[in-house]
Amino acid sequence: MGKINMPHTIKSDFPALRDQSVAYLDSAATSMRPESVLRAMDDFYRYDSANPHRGLYDMSQRATAAYDGARETVARFIGAAPEETIFVRNTSEALNLIAYCFAPYAVGAGDNIVIPITEHHSNIVTWQYVCKKVGAELRYMYVDRETGLLPDSEIERKIDARTKIVAFAHVSNVLGAVLPVLKIVERAKAVGAATVLDIAQSVPHMAVDVKSLGVDFAAFSAHKMYGPMGIGALYGRRELLDAMPPFMFGGDMIEDVREQETDFAPLPSKFEAGTQNGGGAVGFGASAVYIGTIGWDAIESNEHRLLTRLVDGMRRIPHVHITCDAGFGLYDRRAVVSFEVDDVHPHDVATILNESNVAVRAGKHCAHPLLDYLGVPFKATARASLGAYTDESDIDRLLDALPRVRKVMQYGD
Ligand code: ALA
Repeated sequence: MGKINMPHTIKSDFPALRDQSVAYLDSAATSMRPESVLRAMDDFYRYDSANPHRGLYDMSQRATAAYDGARETVARFIGAAPEETIFVRNTSEALNLIAYCFAPYAVGAGDNIVIPITEHHSNIVTWQYVCKKVGAELRYMYVDRETGLLPDSEIERKIDARTKIVAFAHVSNVLGAVLPVLKIVERAKAVGAATVLDIAQSVPHMAVDVKSLGVDFAAFSAHKMYGPMGIGALYGRRELLDAMPPFMFGGDMIEDVREQETDFAPLPSKFEAGTQNGGGAVGFGASAVYIGTIGWDAIESNEHRLLTRLVDGMRRIPHVHITCDAGFGLYDRRAVVSFEVDDVHPHDVATILNESNVAVRAGKHCAHPLLDYLGVPFKATARASLGAYTDESDIDRLLDALPRVRKVMQYGD
């Protein structure tokens, strides 16, 4: 018999997943990477990896073109201009850049910074640091515990005349809840506060246009959108970035250096000291292109169908509870489902699921205040999260493996 040509699937683009051995349901922690991204990085390091922006010879010119071209692609992906798109290590570093170079000039004693309780530590600890340093208050907007929904009243009440920064994730990494960006931005603008949007968990799942969302800053990582680890981007409005001091000092971020003074380079180089992550940038650009080749319609309809299958399936399994289940159907939830199994610690849940080669994350998901606030057993959850490559078999393998959890833990039913 001749070779059977299998139909092309998104999953078959991903070397780590194509043999179907693992049901990978931890894409909110990091996605896998397709051949096209791996090839782009491999080509860069094989053939073009001279130092970008520094050489007049051909290979350096090619490295420069690859690096700058990747920035243009990533900027276009979020609707920003290349000068407003700064390459950083990851979302955390982007948020730190704002905390060090913007916040101390925008927030003073007696002011406040407002964040939702649903935030990831990178969008909490950063602001704790700023608030302690300048004598400001870190104020939380609380979600409804049953639904995970952020009430309008919290937005209205917490963001007030002393609010200088409102920082929030577009999509919660624990609940998959989509936050009402436009409402929050409108309220922040009304009181003159700057907005910082963490789009790490939204850019793999929906089209994000930072200009139409109207935010001042946005932060995201390549590794959650099928790109490499170690690179991310900060978007900032040009006038704000222009007015901010540099974050790091070093090569390529200067225009001229004299013995005692330095003129800094224009955007975006002002914020990119030292030799750039050329291979990372190339992979980042390739990941944005890859998403474009699948298309948002296909990504969103696939994820919506599978999320529905997952939620419906979990609801039918005794002793399994979806965290903030009452919110499904009430408002937009994407690609992430946290869940609890009666009497079993989420770490045991994940360990037992791993015996069936089902990969989920378990614990507090870098969101300790949220897990404490929700009051879930063990103050932790297990979490299944989807990517563009997730298919029915991944969902069904999780649903089939779940009833085994309590059996392994010696519960009778
Ligand atoms: N922020 C990543 C997660 O939610 C690591 O898993």
